[in-house]
Amino acid sequence: MPTRAYAAQSPTTPLAPHGIERRNPTAHDVEIDILFCGVCHSDLHFARNEWGFTQYPVVPGHEILGRVTRVGTGVTKFKVGDLAAVGCLVDSCRACDCCKKGLEQYCTGGGTFTYNGEDKHMGGMTYGGYSEKVVVDESYTLKVPANLDPAAASPLLCAGITTWSPLKHWKAGPGKKVGIVGLGGLGHMGVKFARALGAHTVLFTTSPSKVADGLRLGAHEVVLSTDEAAMAKHAASFDLIIDTVSADHSIDALMALIRLDGTMCMVGVPPNPQQIAAFSVILPRRNLAGSCIGGIGETQEMLDFCGKNNIACDIELIRMDEINHAYERMLKSDVKYRFVIDMASLKA
Ligand SMILES: NC(=O)c1ccc[n+]([C@@H]2O[C@H](COP(=O)([O-])OP(=O)(O)OC[C@H]3O[C@@H](n4cnc5c(N)ncnc54)[C@H](OP(=O)(O)O)[C@@H]3O)[C@@H](O)[C@H]2O)c1
Ligand SMILES: [Zn+2]
Ligand SMILES: [Zn+2]
Repeated sequence: MPTRAYAAQSPTTPLAPHGIERRNPTAHDVEIDILFCGVCHSDLHFARNEWGFTQYPVVPGHEILGRVTRVGTGVTKFKVGDLAAVGCLVDSCRACDCCKKGLEQYCTGGGTFTYNGEDKHMGGMTYGGYSEKVVVDESYTLKVPANLDPAAASPLLCAGITTWSPLKHWKAGPGKKVGIVGLGGLGHMGVKFARALGAHTVLFTTSPSKVADGLRLGAHEVVLSTDEAAMAKHAASFDLIIDTVSADHSIDALMALIRLDGTMCMVGVPPNPQQIAAFSVILPRRNLAGSCIGGIGETQEMLDFCGKNNIACDIELIRMDEINHAYERMLKSDVKYRFVIDMASLKA
């Protein structure tokens, strides 16, 4: 099916209208008319080939929320008219150890990311949510709690699950001191979740203008990471720090805040390799870890938790043709706190 989309054709060309083909739904597929798509910093890294493996044209977007318009004959989870969501994964092998454990994001048998992944149905590469519709296997499609505002719920599909998964894995909760670094799309959800899970929550930001928002979003304390004296007060005291920063920064300065056997978890992906001094992990016996989005079951758990606790993202709704300007603002850390594309603007 011919489908309208926005694509980058090279690392230096702005995103612009581009036609793509979507498959007709097969037995287990749902066709989704996309209402909203969140704008993740990964979209920008991909559009500009900052990680070195983008295939062009690339249609970014993996925070997809919309309405089901068609279902395959074997579909049981959805019916036409339901709200449905798609995150960063549209398929995986379903047979490897990771898939069997519900950790499809680490599939060793050939998982398929929502964009810039190998499209096993159509050939070529998969295309993401900066488009009018998408066709996805129902097993990789999520249910959206009815009480959440759909636009504000869409970034849960990446920004939400990427912070939820490490918080749950490292057991953020009462009695734990948890740091979130960077108040952007991921960071603001990290703050909301760490607080909701009962952890003592500390936000680290480089932006003085975000201090009040950090507190409003749920942080017990906000620390300006540029203030060495303020940082020193938290030395060796954190059970867990989640680092969402998208650009070069000092890992050692953050590691110094981790307590014995505590964990520093990287989720941000600066394009350049970051350095770390061996002493930062040696003394006092610290863990440096990373985490990639979350599994499908875990994503549904997170969405259900958000429904029960009325948690969604703080968003700024934009038109599709404002995407290039939104990227420029994202690079200036000027996002409050996630851009979401109103996909009606693409169809108009
Ligand atoms: N691991 C995964 O599965 C996964 C999933 C999604 C995204 N990501 C990656 O996570 C990163 C963050 O994504 P996002 O969408 O949350 O981005 P974002 O909205 O642009 O937020 C990033 C934040 O990092 C801080 N920051 C930016 N440059 C900095 C610098 N030079 N030094 C210190 N802090 C800086 C800023 O917060 P302050 O103004 O508060 O300092 C900024 O708002 C990206 O690299 C993205 O690709 C990873
Ligand atoms: Zn993302
Ligand atoms: Zn697998």
